[in-house]
Parts: sequence; C-alpha cells; structure tokens
Amino acid sequence: MHLPLSTLVALLPLYLSATVSAQGPSGSGKTTRYWDCCKPSCAWPKKGNAPNPVRTCDKNDQPLNDGGNTRSGCDSGGSAFMCSNQSPWAVNETLAYGWAAVNIAGSNEAAWCCACYELTFTSGPVSGKKMIVQATNTGGDLGNNHFDIAMPGGGVGIFNACTQQYGAPPNGWGERYGGIGGKNECAGFPAALKDGCNWRFDWFQGADNPNVNFRQVACPAAITSKSNCVRQRDVIDQTPTGPSTVPTWTP
Ligand SMILES: *[C@@H]1O[C@H](CO)[C@@H](O)[C@H](O)[C@H]1NC(C)=O
Repeated sequence: MHLPLSTLVALLPLYLSATVSAQGPSGSGKTTRYWDCCKPSCAWPKKGNAPNPVRTCDKNDQPLNDGGNTRSGCDSGGSAFMCSNQSPWAVNETLAYGWAAVNIAGSNEAAWCCACYELTFTSGPVSGKKMIVQATNTGGDLGNNHFDIAMPGGGVGIFNACTQQYGAPPNGWGERYGGIGGKNECAGFPAALKDGCNWRFDWFQGADNPNVNFRQVACPAAITSKSNCVRQRDVIDQTPTGPSTVPTWTP
C-alpha cells in the first residue's frame, strides 16, 4: 500500500491512540502495606468516573449508605471508616484479590480510582504469584507505580482511625509503618479483621514489600460487589468479570 506521506502522518495519531490507549497503564512497580481504618479517598463522590464511590462503613463496620458524604474517621469528628470486607483474600494458591492505595506514574486519581490492576510479584517468597487489586485510595507519600496494599495489621502509616474504630493502640497495631511482626498477633485482632490479618502470613507468606509487574484489567465482580464501585468504560472495557462472590481458598 502506497499512501502519500501527508496521509500517513495524519493517520499516525489514530494508530497510536488505538494501540496505546486500548490497554491502560502497565509496567513495573513497588508495594507496601497498610491498614489505617480511614475512609479511602475514592469513597468521596465523583472521584473517578464511577457512578458510586467506594463503600465505607460506620464505626460498627456496617455499610454507610451516605452517597460518600460522611467525613472520614481520620478527620476530626468524622465517622466513616474502611469496611473490614475490603481485606485481601486468597482465590487459589497463586491468585489473591484485594484493594490498594495507588499511585500510577504520569496518571492521576481520577484515572485510577476504582480501576483494577493485576500485580505479578517479582521478588520475595511470593515471586510469581498474582494479585488483583482495586484502587480505592491514594496517598501523598506514594511514589511512582506504587501499590500500598490494604491488609489489616499492615501498619496505619500517616493517619490512624483504628484507635477510634477498634480501640487499637495509639500508633495502631505493631509499628506505625509495617504493622505487626507475626501471625500470632492476629489472634488478638477484632474478629472482622482476623482473616485479612492472617492472609498476610498465609497466602502472602509474610512477604515484605515485594516488587511487582502490573497491568490494568477489568475488575473481578467479586471485588466490585464488595466495594460497590465500578468504573465506566474508558481506556479498557470496565465491565466486571466472573462471579460476584468467590470463596476463600484454603490449602
Ligand atoms: C487460579 O484462578 C485463576 C482465575 O480463575 C486461574 O486462571 C488460575 O489458573 C488458577 N490457578 C490455580 C493454581 O488454580
């Protein structure tokens, strides 16, 4: 096919937009862990392009149906908290589902709120295992391509609503950054957070901030049924995939 150069140049942007934007972001990145009990940032109205914000819960872990308008338990006088069921779980031996605070290089909160990313761990004991996380939060202390995976007992970080919600120690359970040091400490956790706490030492093998390769994927319906947040179509088809409940795998 011989086309004048001017035609080829005119078509180039179309070609690029079709190949680049049909995928969404991917690359390599880092992880950390946290559980601060705060209302996540994507739980405010009109953050991403999803009709509903991320579901939050009251102090007793009951869903708030507030349209996303309740102040965070991390702010003075606030009473919206992260729901305990936004804890990670094992789907099978090599796949887990969960949630994370996210920072994607060159992107912004509006583009990642409620988007899902398939992480393939590339270091530590979980190397080769995969986890699909939905972005529910961001963080001023996150670097580029950084996934701060939500797991109870992972450390409260900058903010802490766990003392208010569950009577956790003043700096949360364990170290402020990194959280508790062993599975035995999960036994003393509030009932609703025990499974998520144990997950870190079972399926996740106590991995300490492993690196990842990541790519954006459509969210599993088993994740969005808990968060109640589904992006509308943008760079990829965001229709949730698979069954709306997926049981926890046990060895
Ligand atoms: C885990 O589940 C995923 C998704 O259903 C599947 O693709 C994968 O093959 C499963 N792996 C194992 C080891 O069963």
